Amino acid sequence: MQIGVCYYPEQWPRTMWADDARRMAEFGITHVRIGEFAWSRMEPRAGVYEWAWLDDAIETLAARGLKIVLGTPTASPPKWLVDATPDMLPVRADGTPWNYGSRRHYDIASEAYRAHCVRITEAMAQRYGAHPAVVAWQTDNELGCHDTVPSWSNAAQRRFQAWLAKRYGTIESLNEAWGNVFWSMEYPSFEAVGLPVRTPTDANPAHHLDFRRYLSDEVASFHREQAEVLRRYAPNADVLHNFMGFFTTFDHYQFAADKAIDVATWDSYPIARTEVIGLPEAEKARYARTAHPDVSSFDHDRYRTIGGGRFWVMEQQAGPVNWAPWNPVPAPGMVRLWAYEAFAHGAELVSYFRWRQCPYAQEQMHSGLNLPNNELSPGGREVEQAAREIAASEVLRTLAPAGRAQVALVFDYETQWMFEIQRHGASFDYQALAFDYYSALRELGLDVEIVSRHADLSAYRLVVVPSLAVIDDGFVDQIERSDGLWVFGPRSGSKTAHFAIPGDLPPGALQRVLPLQVIEAESLRPTLAPAVTVGGAQGAAVHWRDHVRANGATRIQAQFEDGWPALLSHGRVRYAAAWFTRELHLAMLEGAARGAGLATQRLPQGLRVSRRGGLCFAFNFGEQRSQAPAPEGAEFVLGTRELARGEVCAWRAG
Ligand code: GAL
Repeated sequence: MQIGVCYYPEQWPRTMWADDARRMAEFGITHVRIGEFAWSRMEPRAGVYEWAWLDDAIETLAARGLKIVLGTPTASPPKWLVDATPDMLPVRADGTPWNYGSRRHYDIASEAYRAHCVRITEAMAQRYGAHPAVVAWQTDNELGCHDTVPSWSNAAQRRFQAWLAKRYGTIESLNEAWGNVFWSMEYPSFEAVGLPVRTPTDANPAHHLDFRRYLSDEVASFHREQAEVLRRYAPNADVLHNFMGFFTTFDHYQFAADKAIDVATWDSYPIARTEVIGLPEAEKARYARTAHPDVSSFDHDRYRTIGGGRFWVMEQQAGPVNWAPWNPVPAPGMVRLWAYEAFAHGAELVSYFRWRQCPYAQEQMHSGLNLPNNELSPGGREVEQAAREIAASEVLRTLAPAGRAQVALVFDYETQWMFEIQRHGASFDYQALAFDYYSALRELGLDVEIVSRHADLSAYRLVVVPSLAVIDDGFVDQIERSDGLWVFGPRSGSKTAHFAIPGDLPPGALQRVLPLQVIEAESLRPTLAPAVTVGGAQGAAVHWRDHVRANGATRIQAQFEDGWPALLSHGRVRYAAAWFTRELHLAMLEGAARGAGLATQRLPQGLRVSRRGGLCFAFNFGEQRSQAPAPEGAEFVLGTRELARGEVCAWRAG
């Protein structure tokens, strides 16, 4: 359990650096991330490097025993570079380029820009790769932030065409795979294929899907070009990237594959995230100062597996932020609570954004551990408290990594893309469905691992698949090999890899273990909510419903009032034919957990529990005081059983 901080020495007078480093060390901070936006200071003119200031900053921090995470500065290319390489600016969907004057103003398909990125990475790595205090390198910053993955440029078109040629070999097989006979969309050559943009009506969904796959590969290869240089010059340092919450524009499992990163890190802004994800207004209101209880852990449990067991929070909210529609001050205790929450989900390090609030430029309304006048902020005081508690507790300091959970939730990036390309109903959002399943499992007190469909799923007692657009035979083989119980949500198996309906109807290959067919599917406007009772709980279908025909020995466990099956099962496999209201998801998953031999509990509103290294933690995000569900006589190592809003406790799990 280590504490870190993001620091921008270039934004402060040099006379402050030594004192900053001293205070960081006294505070209990172990890691400091620097550098990721400082290109204009590292290379103020083409080919003219100025390292003296960075040498000085690194030595000042290292002298206090602080470990450094050094960022490559490629998220903010300097003006001289943009002027010299105007084609590197990304192009908007309307065909016009973005302007200079903020950040992330580059086209990932610009080969000229990518060469500059490799060059500056190499220059940094040559200089600092062997420095003993530089323990980790971060590539770029939040790849894809501000919707900057797609660029509708000529360069993107050329690289997409090459990507297609590699994937399909001949234009005839592309035409066949996409179904381009429809509307006479057949292409004579790969060079004739454009980008799926500015068409009078929808472009072919298969065209969109391949473009999304291509973009995802571009993001991964952009990182890998830098990672390869860093590995060469800094073989002992960790290579990482700071991912974002709820962000699905590229496939993070593929990004991380083949050891492209050593640890997954992500940036956690729970209150702002609660505002911007599509939660019902009542939930946003209830959790406006605490954040929704599952909004951070959803990504903790996702990035832990993406990092192969290792994850950090690279940027943690320490007070109000500046970028959500509303930016309230967190309730007392929350900044401390979020730190323990991350640790309880397996984080090795929680690093705060940022050391000190910057009084000028775009983020002047964004808090840090210190106010602009260098006084500790309210959030900073809470982090200081957590750091002191951890330093004083042998148990917390030496906590073992998170063990393997018994429940897996399959999250699939390609499914997100496919259902964005073809929503079919204005309110259908796959990640929101996945989040609702996750949140229900957490409300039942279960620890969850969020995994790729390609992961080895054989060891889990319960595998929950909120939806999975493409179900192939390999995936069904996994079901056959496992002894666990499987729950599938609506729209599962509804597409082929080329974005068509399976010949034998959805759910495609899943029919091998779950004989049923989806005859028709409907999206549901808010006034259409077919009622149903599942496991004694009353509720309805919302957003989506599959009209299902049960075949063979498949059992219908619950039926809608109009007669359509709602929940079906065959052996160890269950199918929810609709997006259910929350009570029904709870009842259904409770029943599934019971069937899988897992103990559940209904936690009070806003209370959550997590287990790590022999401890059980409880967190109160709720409005009311709550009692932690610890057994009689439990030995508390942090806090007590009584939890006011914003409080946390931990006890030795029996
Ligand atoms: C992150 C970004 C940081 C900072 C922060 C503000 O998205 O990586 O540089 O902008 O948000 O919340």
